[in-house]
Amino acid sequence: MIRKPIFAANWKMNNGASATEDFIKSFLSKIQGENLPCDIVIAPPFISLPKLADLLHNAATGQNAHAIQIAAQNCSQFDSGAYTGEISVLMLREFFVHYVILGHSERRAIFGETAATINAKLKKAREGNLKPIFCIGETLAEREAGQLETVLRTQITGGLDGVSEKDLAETVIAYEPVWAIGTGVTATSQQAQDAHAFVRSVIAELYGAEAAARIRIQYGGSVKPGNAAELMACPDIDGALIGGAALEPQSFLEIIRNGSATAE
Ligand code: 13P
Repeated sequence: MIRKPIFAANWKMNNGASATEDFIKSFLSKIQGENLPCDIVIAPPFISLPKLADLLHNAATGQNAHAIQIAAQNCSQFDSGAYTGEISVLMLREFFVHYVILGHSERRAIFGETAATINAKLKKAREGNLKPIFCIGETLAEREAGQLETVLRTQITGGLDGVSEKDLAETVIAYEPVWAIGTGVTATSQQAQDAHAFVRSVIAELYGAEAAARIRIQYGGSVKPGNAAELMACPDIDGALIGGAALEPQSFLEIIRNGSATAE
């Protein structure tokens, strides 16, 4: 398998420290003794990072804890200083954070993040050795207007502008059609596969065939235990970025089990 599947929970603004502790204790007990052939990542709200780091890096919770890696849901494009409300990459590194979600459609639409900001954050993340989970995806109106490929290409070239091949190799792309996020409407496996294949072709144009063959592209948008296997069986889908269904340890685990069973 050239690309190891990656299943990431994006908890969004859910699960404070005590809910994080409940989730992790339950999840770790469920995966006890299981060797899942994939990367498992959890992105809690910033405020829960210390608790998560403590639970996963405290020997008392057992070796399974190391099966899980930590992501942040955002980071600042600046190093330090007068940026009220922001969190820097170096601060995240203190809590064993290895990944950072960037360019999520909620950050683009609700918080006005532009391609330039996302690009600056992505470069800053790589400077601090965080692995970006770089999100892209079209709205329903854009898809219906036949703009799917233009939108994806623009988001990819904007977000990755000036990013080296070496840094791309440490980046994961998450294709999340906006119309599928939190709606219960999942892209069909054909729609998802077509979009993923297109994203990979754009990466090939920009960075060459080898980089394109290596980059992991996750699907996100109403992934559930019942649709994970079919989605992950698609040749260009290398994991999932999961919102609502990753708030329950059992359903997150079932997505991972079902999805990694069919991932190619
Ligand atoms: P849902 O799985 O709740 O649709 O959310 C997807 C998402 O936005 C993950 O980043």
